[in-house]
Amino acid sequence: TCAAGDSQTVVIGLAADSGCGKSTFMRRLTSVFGGAAEPPKGGNPDSNTLISDTTTVICLDDYHSLDRTGRKEKGVTALDPRANDFDLMYDQVKALKDGISVQKPIYNHVTGLLDPPELIKPPKILVIEGLHPMFDSRVRELLDFSIYLDISNEVKFAWKIQRDMAERGHSLESIKASIEARKPDFEAYIDPQKQYADAVIEVLPTQLIPNDNEGKILRVRLIQKEGVKYFSPVYLFDEGSTISWIPCGRKLTCSYPGIKFFYGPETYYGNEVSVVEMDGQFDRLDELIYVESHLSNLSTKFYGEVTQQMLKHADFPGSNNGTGLFQTIIGLKIRDLYEQLIASKAETPVAAKA
Ligand code: ADP
Ligand code: G6P
Repeated sequence: TCAAGDSQTVVIGLAADSGCGKSTFMRRLTSVFGGAAEPPKGGNPDSNTLISDTTTVICLDDYHSLDRTGRKEKGVTALDPRANDFDLMYDQVKALKDGISVQKPIYNHVTGLLDPPELIKPPKILVIEGLHPMFDSRVRELLDFSIYLDISNEVKFAWKIQRDMAERGHSLESIKASIEARKPDFEAYIDPQKQYADAVIEVLPTQLIPNDNEGKILRVRLIQKEGVKYFSPVYLFDEGSTISWIPCGRKLTCSYPGIKFFYGPETYYGNEVSVVEMDGQFDRLDELIYVESHLSNLSTKFYGEVTQQMLKHADFPGSNNGTGLFQTIIGLKIRDLYEQLIASKAETPVAAKA
């Protein structure tokens, strides 16, 4: 394919419902790439974009075609494809991938209006995060790697309460109502995208405590598609085997209800996948090195890099459980994929000349 200039933008899609940890994931990802991403300098203070040396993260809410009033008038939610402009999304992601700058709209989450656009230049890595990165087949084809954060209803509820009650002063009833109201559109338009994801991080209530519904201790599954170019799934002990592992004991401190790992092959929406699962949480994050030393294909640059990243961001939500661990691992896998893609593109012109 023919790109304008010598740009080599790698495009990553991150899908999840809002309030499901996308921004936390993005902070872990950009940290793996060696720099925190910041809002564009001197621009609209309500911009949703984050920029670092290597990475630009754009929020797909910016492609809302209907603003808050428009949605209300038409009776459609933000999750409804009719509230989103997929033609423009496709044109702009394609342009950026081809090395061409775009004037991207801004959806202002404070006012609920569409603000004047901002200039986005083609980065090395473009992350498109939001409700619909894998919805439109044209946009999907532009993705070099895709991730779906699959938060179970029980856990979503626990997180939403934490944020919307504590930080935004909403009532329990209104949070319940808003989750219920989103459910039909979520199931129709957001959830089905997980079948296309190269990696899914599934977050479920623990199975270590019978009938737990607190949503505090989590069972987190990293579902990795087999056969994806430049992505070799992480495994525990022996590739392709099925393993259940309780690391607690002499080398890992665990308090009740402990920690349990699982690894094995599965089928997910008709695709062969490898799953690594962690149920429970770490008491001492520095001991994560013991678990890290038993995982393979991590794409680390040095021994202990996963543990180092986790310790560096110990204050981020999910650092003591599988959400933080698997987000960090996916960050490393994306860095590796990026490096392999760039290397392969650098080789192509030489091969063509020969
Ligand atoms: P999004 O960008 O998808 O809206 P955020 O990353 O801002 O989501 O997270 C929203 C809220 O969900 C956080 O304030 C936090 O309360 C909770 N949360 C996110 N990720 C986790 C996690 N891994 N563990 C526990 N709570 C989390
Ligand atoms: C989702 C979307 C947002 C939208 C919000 C509320 O979280 O990601 O873009 O603002 O829903 O939608 P509303 O129509 O109530 O403003």
